[in-house]
Amino acid sequence: MNRYYNPVQILQGPGCVENLPQVVASAGGDNARVLLVVWDRRVCALPVFAGLLARGEALCRSYCFQSSNPTVEQLFAAYQETKSFSPSVVIAVGGGSTMDVGKSLCCLYQKELPDADALRRLICSRSYGTPAAKWIGIPTTAGTGSEVTCWATIWDPAQDTKRSVESQLNYAYAALVDPDLTDGMPLKLAVSSALDAVSHGVESYWARGTNCVSRALALEAVRTIMGSLDDLLAGKPEARDAMARGSMLAGLAFSNTRTTACHSISYPLTMHYHIPHGTAVSLLLAPVLRLNTPAVEGLDAMLAALGVKDAGELARCLGGYLDAAGLPASLQEWGVKWEDLSHLAQLGLTKGRADNNPVDLDPEMALSLLRDIYTTPYMKQKGA
Ligand SMILES: NC(=O)c1ccc[n+]([C@@H]2O[C@H](COP(=O)([O-])OP(=O)(O)OC[C@H]3O[C@@H](n4cnc5c(N)ncnc54)[C@H](O)[C@@H]3O)[C@@H](O)[C@H]2O)c1
Ligand SMILES: [Zn+2]
Repeated sequence: MNRYYNPVQILQGPGCVENLPQVVASAGGDNARVLLVVWDRRVCALPVFAGLLARGEALCRSYCFQSSNPTVEQLFAAYQETKSFSPSVVIAVGGGSTMDVGKSLCCLYQKELPDADALRRLICSRSYGTPAAKWIGIPTTAGTGSEVTCWATIWDPAQDTKRSVESQLNYAYAALVDPDLTDGMPLKLAVSSALDAVSHGVESYWARGTNCVSRALALEAVRTIMGSLDDLLAGKPEARDAMARGSMLAGLAFSNTRTTACHSISYPLTMHYHIPHGTAVSLLLAPVLRLNTPAVEGLDAMLAALGVKDAGELARCLGGYLDAAGLPASLQEWGVKWEDLSHLAQLGLTKGRADNNPVDLDPEMALSLLRDIYTTPYMKQKGA
């Protein structure tokens, strides 16, 4: 049976962020107390956000969250600093990290949390109840698709794990996906986040929990992004809209399927070696495609969307995009130690993702995937 649900109102296209005042009014009324969570203070100077802030401190405040990969402690600090304002609408303007902080806050305000450990316990118990505020997602990377998913990734290096603030009641009220806001992204971030979106599409397509709606969205997302990556690297402005649209479509696809082996095995690489999320995931995409090939229904359609004939060609193609952006395409170049691979493989088999892969995974297989991407020449040899 196919089942698909996603209630997010979506506005997409250049300039669509200008509609924000009306969207805020429909979410919270004219006197909504609005918290703007922004990736950079400069966002507050853009006319549409400055207009909201001009309503005065009683009605609109801002909080800047600039780091990548929010931790439990950082989310707790954001909660402590903003709880007394008690917003009814949270607008998160930023990449996946800033949106994940903004959306998580909506699940926390109705709770009294004395410290980060209490927050950790709440995340484990998932007993959020009804979110205290509605949130609006405005991505500035393209992208994580976080504006259309109901979970937020919160990292917990202190306990060597990745957590998820997750509630079906916490989908965004609206997503405003405006490519103009991604203008100025450094090339490394643009390519890394684009490859994250490709991975969302591909993994959603082959996930055990897939459905016909997600599969259609995934194909369109992957086709859109892969078809515009050369233009993105060439700095053509029209690529920005394709990336914004494609990543939002990929987000819609995996919002109902979750991800699989690539995401699962990538998490410890990001946590231990600070490999950007999209880069870490994309390194695993070709080896996992090779592993999953016999098990993927409709593989030809996905290969056509990717624009490659097999996993080897995908490895060369993605390696080329990473190289062109100045991002290392092997674990060795990211400083990963060969002797750490077994431990990373163990950590990489997470519940809900590794077991959502179409082929069963065990630690030996995860280790073999990590060895595949340890050095670039090896990856190229295998693909040749
Ligand atoms: N909730 C979800 O559904 C979901 C899905 C995928 C990834 N994620 C999470 O999202 C995070 C990665 O997000 P990301 O790839 O968007 O990067 P990011 O949000 O971590 O941003 C990277 C850096 O770039 C900055 N930045 C943001 N927008 C910018 C812009 N337009 N120009 C210049 N700099 C900008 C950020 O402040 C940050 O310092 C990870 O923590 C990942 O786990 C969440
Ligand atoms: Zn991702």
